[in-house]
Amino acid sequence: MTTTLTLVQGDITRQHVDAIVNAANSSLLGGGGVDGAIHRRGGPAILEECRRLRASLHSDGLPTGRAVATTAGALNARWVIHTVGPVFTSEEDRSELLASCYRESLRVADELGACTVAFPAVSTGGYGWPLDDGARIAVETVRRTRTSVEEVRFVLFDARAYEAFAAQAG
Ligand code: AR6
Repeated sequence: MTTTLTLVQGDITRQHVDAIVNAANSSLLGGGGVDGAIHRRGGPAILEECRRLRASLHSDGLPTGRAVATTAGALNARWVIHTVGPVFTSEEDRSELLASCYRESLRVADELGACTVAFPAVSTGGYGWPLDDGARIAVETVRRTRTSVEEVRFVLFDARAYEAFAAQAG
């Protein structure tokens, strides 16, 4: 089955999809940006499940490039898939870790049976990844990944991010 890639400008917490991907940090205990918005709008059920994951599977935190699912609480979606993007640095090429966020999130989505998945532009906010390069890695990786997900929707917060993804998606 082919995966349709769509782009929208907006707030990821408002999307009607099966799963929303969170640009989390390895603590899984919340933060700013997308992470803050998801926990605010989704309510405490998400944090409770994150705490249980920290106490059981991920006592040292979720490693960069990995993904894990929780309930989506009060959000329209059924699940939140938390992934940890790399912090950008010009000292080292961490592109593979950023690509891994998209691949691992889709692998988790397949395990859940999610048909529609919304992604933010992982690492391009607080983690400082240059937007054009973050968009290139996101679009290339999703296009190359075998998945049962029918729609991958990139949800871009502002016009600049939308244009960067549109330029890559062609
Ligand atoms: N919907 C869609 N996109 C958004 C939203 C939203 N509601 N809010 C922000 N963005 P960021 P990161 C965009 O910082 O770079 C957190 O504190 C934003 O404009 O959310 O991976 C975590 O806890 C940017 O383009 O994630 C981590 O500590 C993109 O989403 C750290 O930030 C990603 O920005 C993760 O940093």
